[in-house]
Amino acid sequence: MKMPVKVAPSLLAADFGRLREEVRRIESAGADWIHFDIMDGKYVPAITMGPLVLEALRPHSKLTFDAHFMIENPEAQLDAFARAGADMITVHVEATAHLDRVLREIKKRGLKAGAALNPATTPDQLDYVWPLLDLVLVMSVNPGAGGQSFIPAVLPKIENLARRIRESGRPVDLMVDGGINGDTAPQVVAAGATVLVAGSAVFNDPQGMELIQAFKTIGGPRYRV
Ligand code: DX5
Ligand code: ZN
Repeated sequence: MKMPVKVAPSLLAADFGRLREEVRRIESAGADWIHFDIMDGKYVPAITMGPLVLEALRPHSKLTFDAHFMIENPEAQLDAFARAGADMITVHVEATAHLDRVLREIKKRGLKAGAALNPATTPDQLDYVWPLLDLVLVMSVNPGAGGQSFIPAVLPKIENLARRIRESGRPVDLMVDGGINGDTAPQVVAAGATVLVAGSAVFNDPQGMELIQAFKTIGGPRYRV
């Protein structure tokens, strides 16, 4: 069965002085998830937001709150983000020595669990954790900032991961994050992406809200096994 593409706007590019209105705007434009980029000034140089931001927005949205951790020691923050209302937490495989354990800890809290791969990280990092995964996040820029250019070298990796997901027989989403716009979205969907993260294309463009619908109707070879 062909599945529609899901769109997860990244609040990193939103107006932080009006976050509640920004959430309403993307929700009425048809966003499926809200992507929260959590940076700690250590794993990546920037510091962005913590659990208080999710907690403040939680009463104002029913969308899935998708927390993308770009932090060291992710285990230490799971309780705070679970309490704040995250529905899913994605950790970088490069940021933990204990990927299996942290994925189990996320699931133990009743949340969906994801693993993120930097542009240079190979898919076989996930070989022994497939049963724990609800989501794989392919970074199509280096983590740390919005507004960067898409790295086309990740396209074969997306195809590779889409095949591994089909082979796993499990309903694992394949998210692509970084430099997604009207040109790159069809390429990543054709390669097998099922969830598109977009920050600047959605929030920094006058046509950004319409782009959400456009992304959702992109056709591609997406079949659930
Ligand atoms: C980068 C973040 C992305 C970023 C996407 O570290 O993980 O989610 O905000 O922003 P754009 O869509 O502008 O590349
Ligand atoms: Zn992100």
